[in-house]
Amino acid sequence: MNAYRSYKNLPALAGLCSMEEAMKPGLSVEACVARLKRYHYLSKRLHQIFNNRLTAEPIYELKMGFSLHAHYCAEHVTALRQRVGEMREPPLGLEETPHPALEIFCDEILAAPSTDELLLGLYEKALPALQTALKKHMADTNPLADQPSMRLCRFILLEIDDMLKFGAGCVQSLITDAVRQPAQNWLKLLDDCLAAAGGLDGSAPAPEEKPLSRQHSAKPYRYDPVPRRDERFPDPYNMGVNAEVFLYDDQYPPAPKTVMMFYKRLREIDVPEMMASIIAETPGKPWGYYRDMTRQLWDEARHAMMGEVGFANLNIDWPKQVMINFTWSLALNTQLTPLERHAVLYFIEQGLMPKTGKRFEWEVGQASHNPLSALFQDYDWADEVLHARVGRDWYVKQIGDAKKAVDYGDDCWSKVLMNWESWRQEGKTQHRNWWPEAYTAACQTWNTPPDPRVLAYNTTYETVRADLKNLVGSA
Ligand SMILES: [Fe+2]
Ligand SMILES: [Fe+2]
Ligand SMILES: [Fe+2]
Repeated sequence: MNAYRSYKNLPALAGLCSMEEAMKPGLSVEACVARLKRYHYLSKRLHQIFNNRLTAEPIYELKMGFSLHAHYCAEHVTALRQRVGEMREPPLGLEETPHPALEIFCDEILAAPSTDELLLGLYEKALPALQTALKKHMADTNPLADQPSMRLCRFILLEIDDMLKFGAGCVQSLITDAVRQPAQNWLKLLDDCLAAAGGLDGSAPAPEEKPLSRQHSAKPYRYDPVPRRDERFPDPYNMGVNAEVFLYDDQYPPAPKTVMMFYKRLREIDVPEMMASIIAETPGKPWGYYRDMTRQLWDEARHAMMGEVGFANLNIDWPKQVMINFTWSLALNTQLTPLERHAVLYFIEQGLMPKTGKRFEWEVGQASHNPLSALFQDYDWADEVLHARVGRDWYVKQIGDAKKAVDYGDDCWSKVLMNWESWRQEGKTQHRNWWPEAYTAACQTWNTPPDPRVLAYNTTYETVRADLKNLVGSA
């Protein structure tokens, strides 16, 4: 150890590390970039897996978790791309696959045939591999020379830790030994893939070549656009309570309107289900598109959970007393192209901005003296302003004309047959009016008698669209 000292014993090197640590040889720029590209590749594929699997995943909590984790991964990808771009690297080669075995690894998890295997692949193989690699990067690299990568690794590790905790909780609740046992062979394949690649970061000596044979991804994966829900959604075709007609009717007081707004919020689960389909089926965009769209997707999931919290707060047993449907995501995902879906989303969201939109909902929340409703509507409004911006940046720019973009969205929405009457005839739903029960439960919590006018509310979506536009006929 040499005798070098800082001035007056002040923290040296901006407090980054000790003099000794700053003297270690570390990783060359070339070695560092090679590793960063591998973290980038896995993060990008993880974003894809979380996104593509959330629509058809029935369990609500997993849908919400996947939405958040898709958002985290999209942010990590953005930061990693930027860092690679700072490292003397053009052309960046960020769209290339760093090792064929890593591709098989990711393809296999994407195509996992069950939720159980999906969870094991994501939370017991892929994310731990990324965590190990990032920790190793921090241990291997020179903390002064490569400080920007160190900082990045540290931030990403924080969120990976959260993701792993969530995953461990899910595995503990859902996966028994009886489920895990038959998956051993497949989990071994995942380990073999990582080993064949020299570890995720490529720093381990590559083992003797042995053939890796695809199992779940032997048949190419196809995105499943049909939304699924768990048993807490017993009547997913129910369009028996028109929330907007009630909300914008002056004869009703603000307090019951908060219940209707919690319904509207929780019903927003169908937005991640739908947006995931746009992201999954729109290849070839600049990365910023996927990043922005995934942030919006996550916000919509967050809005749904705000509705869930609102119901829990009012002691409303939502699975029994509120019929959360999936008719919107189902219709859009199965009847429209990805661009048409984006058009509908934009049309609805830009319609939320004028007076009868998000400001109005926030004012109702304020007037109701339900502080949770006011708070949630405040953030819901702020988020929707951001989403209108995302729509302008990507969708409107693609259409090329603001007016055309709005009209196209309106047309596409009308084009989607909501099938109100045919769903009833097919026996999929009776469009039962669940409102009196939910409202009565809220009244019990408030300790007030139900208002007969509010209790009698009985307007469906048969003829009035959610933006209050009349539908011609009952299609
Ligand atoms: Fe929304
Ligand atoms: Fe919202
Ligand atoms: Fe939105």
